[in-house]
Amino acid sequence: MPTLSPRALRILVALILGLVALVAFSGCAVKHQSSNLEAGKVLFSKKCGSCHTLSHANTTGQTGPNLDDMFRQDRSDGIKDTSIAGLVSFWIQHPNTQGVMPAGLYTGQAAQQVASYVGAVAGRPGQDTGALAAAGGVQGTTPAAGKQVFTGVGGCGSCHTLADAGTNATVGPNLNQDLRANCASAQSKQVRGATLAECIEHAIVKPYDYIPAGYKAGVMPSNFGQSLQKNEITALVNYLVKATG
Ligand code: HEC
Ligand code: HEC
Repeated sequence: MPTLSPRALRILVALILGLVALVAFSGCAVKHQSSNLEAGKVLFSKKCGSCHTLSHANTTGQTGPNLDDMFRQDRSDGIKDTSIAGLVSFWIQHPNTQGVMPAGLYTGQAAQQVASYVGAVAGRPGQDTGALAAAGGVQGTTPAAGKQVFTGVGGCGSCHTLADAGTNATVGPNLNQDLRANCASAQSKQVRGATLAECIEHAIVKPYDYIPAGYKAGVMPSNFGQSLQKNEITALVNYLVKATG
């Protein structure tokens, strides 16, 4: 018998765990399953999206593997949602002990819900619809909520350095070093508003009105005013005021 490749082993584990999950879930009504998916999406955005890209959840983390890329092949090999969920659930409980991913991020039902959501969407084209589309948004306007947007749905860390968020990208201005000085310039005050909060909000919603020296228009996405919720933008503003002070 040929030895199993790591990939074949993963699939085997997934299949077995998928069966277990299937049995465990077969008593649930469909409605219950869909609210499980919504809960799973919220949980994913909270603790997984900062490290993993998953397009349906609008997360763009780069520390761990892209979960769409990871499961696209499995899906076209005919691996079922429940099997992918089984694998994800297994991985949440038993991440590589030599690896980067923390153990015990979720347990029990929460782990199962996250896994079901990833199993339902990873590697699938398109977007979430209906109630699922609205789930996973960040609640409130606190700096902590803003940090979640920055590292999660906003994907800001893929272009900006910000020490508090642990990001060090250099596509856009370094928010620790440049933001306050740029907002304090007379020209910026005229265009983006006199206060730091006004300046930041303007920079997020209409990034091309004022271009800091050394950068050009057309790089930062100009649709955050549409793609983010109002409270998420306010939370980002509150966070950046705090994190750059
Ligand atoms: C701090 C960053 C980080 C967080 C948070 C994180 N992961 Fe990971 N994850 C990684 C890294 C890095 C790997 C690659 C293996 C390693 O180095 O541990 C990985 C691997 C994986 C894998 C792939 C396993 C395989 O088959 O190779 C899955 C699935 C996964 N993570 C799901 C999740 C889920 C679900 C969450 C949220 C509960 C999560 N991760 C949270 C960093 C993270
Ligand atoms: C694809 C890269 C990219 C992404 C993603 C991105 N930005 Fe930017 N950002 C830039 C660039 C480039 C500039 C400078 C040119 C401009 O203003 O359009 C900029 C400018 C800014 C400024 C003004 C900085 C200054 O010194 O005046 C702020 C504030 C800002 N971004 C915040 C954010 C936030 C918050 C997010 C996430 C919601 C984000 N950016 C996502 C590239 C990006």
